[in-house]
Amino acid sequence: MKATGQDIIRELQNRRDQARLGGGAARIDRQHAAGKLTARERLDVLLDPGSFEETDMFVVHRSRDFGMDGNTIAGDGVITGSGRINGQLVYVYSQDFTVFGGSLSATHANKIVKILKLAMQNGAPVIGLNDSGGARIQEGVDSLGGYADVFLQNVMASGVIPQISVIMGPCAGGAVYSPAMTDFTFMVRGTSYMFVTGPDVVKTVTSEDVTAEELGGADTHTKLSSVADGAFDNDLQALSEIRRLVGYLPANNTDSAASAEPIDDPKRTVPALDSLIPDSPNLPYDMNELVISIADEGRFFEIQPDFAKNILTGFVRMNGATVGVVANQPMVLAGCLDIDSSRKAARFVRFCDAFNIPILTLVDVPGFMPGTSQEYGGIIKHGAKLLFAYAEATVPKVTLITRKAYGGAYDVMSSKHLRGDANFAWPTAEIAVMGAKGAVEILYRSELGDAEKIAARTADYEDRFANPFIAAERGFIDDVIIPSNSRFRLIQAFEKLRKKHLQNPHKKFGNIPL
Ligand code: HXC
Repeated sequence: MKATGQDIIRELQNRRDQARLGGGAARIDRQHAAGKLTARERLDVLLDPGSFEETDMFVVHRSRDFGMDGNTIAGDGVITGSGRINGQLVYVYSQDFTVFGGSLSATHANKIVKILKLAMQNGAPVIGLNDSGGARIQEGVDSLGGYADVFLQNVMASGVIPQISVIMGPCAGGAVYSPAMTDFTFMVRGTSYMFVTGPDVVKTVTSEDVTAEELGGADTHTKLSSVADGAFDNDLQALSEIRRLVGYLPANNTDSAASAEPIDDPKRTVPALDSLIPDSPNLPYDMNELVISIADEGRFFEIQPDFAKNILTGFVRMNGATVGVVANQPMVLAGCLDIDSSRKAARFVRFCDAFNIPILTLVDVPGFMPGTSQEYGGIIKHGAKLLFAYAEATVPKVTLITRKAYGGAYDVMSSKHLRGDANFAWPTAEIAVMGAKGAVEILYRSELGDAEKIAARTADYEDRFANPFIAAERGFIDDVIIPSNSRFRLIQAFEKLRKKHLQNPHKKFGNIPL
């Protein structure tokens, strides 16, 4: 008997229901027992309700070896499609650990590549939720080829659309290189790990005893390696924070930075800032307080909050518009620039520049960190990354020096000389080659035995250089501003720069010191 229209629609529903079950109820229970949401539940949390539109739900693998013929599950271990986050279009893929351990086959890879291409073509961010046993072991080189196809597409999309990876389970072997090439990688504490080779191989090759958590857990990658940009306690928290992050980002590299309806008074003064700087130049203060107090509603989405804490990086809104913040943190290592903080900030500056996000630089820096470990580690090359990134950036750059801006670090931190558009200083700023004590010890070495003379020399040096006015006389500082008015002055500067147009000389690309 010929199937009726109803039968055909029922058959479609059955197929859809079957696909939605993934690897089946038992494996879904196992996923929940491990403290993880399923791939579909994750998309439900990430996307606006009802906005997900799935593509390639019926794709199955084509392998025939190791009993794989006949062993197919619709979707092949990754759920792909598009949806909205607070109304903004995003493309997504979510690996389904209940289907062959979320492992990557050639067809699974094709689905991800298709999503990356659609995201690029339609100019929307892409978010990948990773939970996978890696290369599909039964497929061999087809799977390896699939990974390379994804890697290539990640590279093509880099700088065109924002790419965000969330690691929500295993991510091992070459699989780690896709997240590593995206703009931001986040992890979930306790349930995710990333490593190139697992603990067993490590034991065989180097005789080290290490757990998966120690080798590649969220703590390792947010505090030690800086492979990850942040970690969250569970899937729910991770996904809702990703929603928040997407709200700060433009859709693509031709879009102007995202902006929200301003709900905080742009003229709001912050009287507490007039006494933020301690009387003694050697006492620290919390730069975070400055960031929070000038940002709309005190909100700051920090990137890499647990790594190189001597520099803060992240997104704020100022009168509704997204601004990327880079700020020295005097509370940690006196806010000096070292290898880690230079790398962290350089990558952030380049992200902002690639995606038209204006940069606010808050400066209190005593210089580059001295020492053999820094020199042997290549501080020259790593510090140059930050210098290079600031110098090539053509987005609006507004700088505020709160206290110290010493030596080469003064130049690096978005100075006028590197095309800073608006460079402000508080009256407490000290712009000099180095601090007064160090300077006097070099200039007047022969007088070091005479405490009185040295004190007078130091006071003299401070009088002359421990202020912003010499730089202001030369036009290196556009204005010296009252701290409590900073929010308004910075917002005004960014608003005037909204239509800034600046182009670097034509080239294939600059050779940033990698
Ligand atoms: C095929 C896989 C798989 C894989 C897991 N599964 N990994 N199937 N290929 N790579 C399947 C399992 O057979 C199992 O199927 C289900 O997924 C769940 O796996 P379990 O082992 O039961 O889960 P768990 O105990 O949580 O352990 C997870 C795991 C482990 C740590 C990821 O499965 C594992 O070690 N897998 C192999 C990892 C690996 O070596 N991958 C290759 C890495 S190299 P059933 O049917 O029982 O549910 C690589 C190279 C990429 O990826 C190179 C790119 C250039």
